[in-house]
Amino acid sequence: MATHRITLTINGSTEQLDVPSNLTLLQMLREKLALTGTKNGCMAGECGACTVILNGEPVNSCMVLAAECDGADVRTVEGLAKDGVLDPVQEAIIDRGGVQCGFCTPGVLMSSRALLDRNPRPSDEQIREALLGNLCRCTGYLRIIDAVQEAARRSAAL
Ligand code: FES
Ligand code: FES
Repeated sequence: MATHRITLTINGSTEQLDVPSNLTLLQMLREKLALTGTKNGCMAGECGACTVILNGEPVNSCMVLAAECDGADVRTVEGLAKDGVLDPVQEAIIDRGGVQCGFCTPGVLMSSRALLDRNPRPSDEQIREALLGNLCRCTGYLRIIDAVQEAARRSAAL
């Protein structure tokens, strides 16, 4: 199996790694960098548990090859909190009861953060659209949507 040397930024830190051609971004994060906050749900691009922000866009990291990420900027759930202070989407999803088992939560948080970065005051419909690829078996989604609205209000007040 061919390997590729890649250099990329992950949560603000530069990393240089040798990755096999068939290694996914999800596997690289979890297995080479121990960033296990990004979850492995289906490995098929269906559940959104593995969502990270790649060059500003939310992506299913199980569907991206690590070798394609040379020069990329990647944000994972581990990079959301800054200096021990939670991101407003993290705070709001806790306060509004948008977490139950928590398996979908890292992916939901990253899709929500990407949405708020490009649209600071989304409508409920825009939130639903942004979270279409993030499956949650527990919450029924209403509390997650409420949490994203609350995060938008809190971010606007910062
Ligand atoms: S693990 Fe990637 S979409 Fe399910
Ligand atoms: S909180 Fe359990 S899958 Fe979403």
